Amino acid sequence: MSYRESINTHYGKPDLTARILDHLQRQGIELEHLKWEDLIDFDQFHGGGMKSTLWLAEATGLGPGMRVLDVGAGIGGTARVWCTKFGCTVFGIEPAEEFCNAAERLTSLVGMSDQINFICDDVAEVELPDNSFDVAMFVNTLMNIEDEAGIFRKVYRSLKPGGRLAITARTATPLTYEGFLYPCPWASDPSTNFLATAESTHADLIAAGFSDVVWEATPGEKSDETPPTPIGPAPFGLIMNIDVVAMRRNNQLNTSAGRLGSLRAVVRKRV
Ligand SMILES: C[S@@+](CC[C@H](N)C(=O)[O-])C[C@H]1O[C@@H](n2cnc3c(N)ncnc32)[C@H](O)[C@@H]1O
Repeated sequence: MSYRESINTHYGKPDLTARILDHLQRQGIELEHLKWEDLIDFDQFHGGGMKSTLWLAEATGLGPGMRVLDVGAGIGGTARVWCTKFGCTVFGIEPAEEFCNAAERLTSLVGMSDQINFICDDVAEVELPDNSFDVAMFVNTLMNIEDEAGIFRKVYRSLKPGGRLAITARTATPLTYEGFLYPCPWASDPSTNFLATAESTHADLIAAGFSDVVWEATPGEKSDETPPTPIGPAPFGLIMNIDVVAMRRNNQLNTSAGRLGSLRAVVRKRV
């Protein structure tokens, strides 16, 4: 299976767009009057949910007229919130075909296609214009990216001078690969799991030319207590193609075994 097929098989339920539209109609929502707010119960597709989406916008200083690159745009939920609340435009890259189709259709139904464009591809394969974006976002995407150093160099070139790159991610620890349990939220097996330590991500960012603005790295810690809901309450079962119950349990066990750290960061391109 190719990388993109593996990513799509892990993330996107077959016929995802139709499933989502059916879910909305069952709630009594008329599609011709669909609003971006009708989607927020499930379209912020990362553990931190809406709180994290808003933190990323504030930490990067998103504002009217800014151009945002969203690497791993999911079903477009973060893009729709940033455009609506902060007046920017977004170019989203999303390799999972089911997600990309849903992102385009939902964005069109809420009337935001003039502010948001998606390309269905792996960021490694996409040519990005130089000095074009004010902000680049990696919202829980980095764990799937093998050539982190190369992608940071590519994104660095595509940012305008002074442009910011923001990351939320789970990170590797010295215990990560001792009995790591699958499926986890971002991978069904080791073939698409590219967890990096916060230290190596930092080194790759600095080597690409970035400097720190915010750096909040939390190391993994062993705990006798199973953390209550480490990936939040979002109804991932609506959109993900994997066994979501096993995924949640494994995420809790990987976390309490000290196999996962986390990172929130904003870095800046030289002026
Ligand atoms: C946990 S989801 C987060 C989606 C979205 N950022 C959000 O928060 O709603 C991670 C996303 O990264 C995407 N992804 C994985 N590998 C990628 C790659 N090589 N290039 C771009 N996106 C990728 C996945 O398909 C998936 O949609």
